[in-house]
Amino acid sequence: MSKVISGFSKRSKQEKINWLAENYFEKNAHIVQILQQYWNSDEKLQQLHDDFIENTLSNFYMPFGVAPNFLINNETYAIPMVIEESSVVAAAALVAKYWSTRGGFKTTVLGTTKIGQVHFMFEGDKEDLSNYFTKNKAKLIAATASITANMEKRGGGILDLQLVDKTDKLANYYQLHVTFETKDSMGANFINSCLEAIANAFRNDQIEIVMSILSNFVPGCLVRAEVSCPIADLGGENPQKFAEKFHQAVQIAQIEPYRAVTHNKGIMNGVDAVVLATGNDFRAVEAGAHAYASKDGSYKSLSHCTITNGIFKFWLDIPLALGTVGGLTSLHPMAKLSLEMLQKPSANRLMEILAAAGLAQNFAALRALTTKGIQHGHMKMHLQNILNQLGANAQEKEKITTYFDGKTVTHAAVVSKFEEIK
Ligand code: MEV
Repeated sequence: MSKVISGFSKRSKQEKINWLAENYFEKNAHIVQILQQYWNSDEKLQQLHDDFIENTLSNFYMPFGVAPNFLINNETYAIPMVIEESSVVAAAALVAKYWSTRGGFKTTVLGTTKIGQVHFMFEGDKEDLSNYFTKNKAKLIAATASITANMEKRGGGILDLQLVDKTDKLANYYQLHVTFETKDSMGANFINSCLEAIANAFRNDQIEIVMSILSNFVPGCLVRAEVSCPIADLGGENPQKFAEKFHQAVQIAQIEPYRAVTHNKGIMNGVDAVVLATGNDFRAVEAGAHAYASKDGSYKSLSHCTITNGIFKFWLDIPLALGTVGGLTSLHPMAKLSLEMLQKPSANRLMEILAAAGLAQNFAALRALTTKGIQHGHMKMHLQNILNQLGANAQEKEKITTYFDGKTVTHAAVVSKFEEIK
């Protein structure tokens, strides 16, 4: 039987669920119940979420947590985080507290420009194209006037417009390469609207526009977060040894892509959690960060470490295209709440906060990996998840947690212990 359906989006939510239940589930009663269980009883709020996308059936919960004690440029933040991975918030909170007594995080925005491109084909004479571009450049920018007026009032707009010859890579391929400043908005809609207006004003009989779109590669929209202290202040039994092993771990991630990807994934655990909590676009941030990690031709660590004259220094450079106005940031009540928790930051300040969260996460991972190993902390959380799945009560949880202290946690071993004490 064909399951291809026409006019699905026009059906009511209930009709969509019924259709799915009939076509994709064997026992279909549970799907209705599970989906409905996550509907919000506040109809207006549910409607708001329904309208974010097409064909909304229900809501998908993620934990919304907080990591307090983040001292960033001498201000203390409580950072909201949305993430399902059990150890991330705990690690962020631990490391934030640790660095709060060692000078905290120092952050600097290194750039805020974003890029968009009009990709087009042209078979004629290069010089004619170049002359046509030069003659019309002012007109191309003027074509965006109605779109840029508000942005210019806020100090943003188009910063530069260049014709780029790419014909050495692809026959007849050229670009209009446009640089933008979008202030506190992420700027995707603004950039794409400007590009389409520019493309319309630029096309002629010989110029075939292929597409106009922003780039998520934003090396010019870059932030640095850093921590440093004398090695002796790192604490622990042997701070010198700790610093050296930590430094080695970062060096490995600089030259070994297999390790670098996992290393950077750990950074993104912290970054993505705040990106999500603040209603920003995590796919854009992920794509941009990983592209930046490979900008020199091989994939490398986004963080760096030095030990010089007895000072341990650890820092992260990461491109982050974020907004604190517009889009989901002003629509989603939880995103608004997150931004309020962060003292209504500008996009620049949010870049700094996210970079600190990413660096903290990376510090936590490397500290664990180069000392006790990562499973030690993970297993504690894993155990709690298994106990929750089994429906253990508080007393049973306490008994089993004590029993597994120092032992390897496997699902089977926990089930067996749970059955034993039941
Ligand atoms: C797990 O989500 C993240 C880590 O693998 C990061 C790392 O290896 O650096 C622990």
